[in-house]
Amino acid sequence: MLLSRSSLKLKFSLVFFLTVFLVVVALLIGVQSLKTRQLRNEAMAVAEQVVAFRAWVANTGVVWVDHLAPEFRDYLSRRASGDKTLEFFSKNPALATRELSDIVSKTATRATFRVTSDEYRNPANAPDAFETSAIQLFKDSKDAKQEYREAFESGQYRYAQPIFVQQSCLKCHGDPKDAPPDVIEKYGSQKAFGYKVGDVRGIISVKLPDMTVLDVVRTFLNPYTIGLILLAFLLNFVYLRQTLIVRLERLAKTTESIAAGQMDLPLEARTDSHDEVDHVTRAVDLLRNSVVVAMRRLQKNLSQP
Ligand code: HEC
Repeated sequence: MLLSRSSLKLKFSLVFFLTVFLVVVALLIGVQSLKTRQLRNEAMAVAEQVVAFRAWVANTGVVWVDHLAPEFRDYLSRRASGDKTLEFFSKNPALATRELSDIVSKTATRATFRVTSDEYRNPANAPDAFETSAIQLFKDSKDAKQEYREAFESGQYRYAQPIFVQQSCLKCHGDPKDAPPDVIEKYGSQKAFGYKVGDVRGIISVKLPDMTVLDVVRTFLNPYTIGLILLAFLLNFVYLRQTLIVRLERLAKTTESIAAGQMDLPLEARTDSHDEVDHVTRAVDLLRNSVVVAMRRLQKNLSQP
């Protein structure tokens, strides 16, 4: 109610700012889904590298190394060469992946990853809450082949994709009777056995730092975008002022003068124009002419008694 009596300038400003606000909200929603897609693509690329690396290790069974690096003392089994001069240590796929994950997390890469399972042999591989729920969802799902899970958690993007059991895994995750003695010796015959090809064995879990609102704003606000936004403001306000407000004010003044009896004021109405202000101006002009004619008639009648 209050607004209906306010000036056009105020009404238009309100509509303008509301429009800007709605556009910004729409943009933010768009940016949010763009951001999620960007993070997901990044996480998927990391997971694919892990899958490829694991496949390489699993296809050879285990990787044998001739000494242990100081920060990576873990191994599955050790063997000496025939003449006992050399010693070798084996690293199974999960162990090799864990060491790769450690190395990657110390580089400048934004993404960190790890492999985990509900049936974990190594306590260091125990899943957290997000990972546990992702594993359960993959196990419950009928067609998990193309699936992933994602979440935003305390400033981090979380991503999980299932690891399926393949033929090459059965040696150590199938029947315990077929398993290498080293595996039984180290982890027993209970844990993480009895899988079939195609089962969900665990997940690759990827973490990425989430983008904050500030990051998004920073990406958006640069000299070009600020310049364009200012231009939009200017266009709207200057153009509106010149085409509508100033002309309406002038027309109102002229019409008031006509009402006060001043009939010879100029009214600039372009005749071939579709502009509504021109339209009103023409109408006022016609009205004035009618008033002039009516007044002349009246004066004539008055002067002829
Ligand atoms: C040479 C034996 C061996 C082979 C082959 C093997 N694994 Fe494992 N796997 C292990 C051992 C031992 C662990 C124990 C944890 C560790 O070393 O980190 C493990 C752990 C895992 C884990 C992590 C959870 C845990 O138990 O700590 C997953 C997931 C896994 N394996 C999946 C696979 C898949 C999938 C394949 C086939 C592509 C495979 N493994 C092949 C021996 C093997």
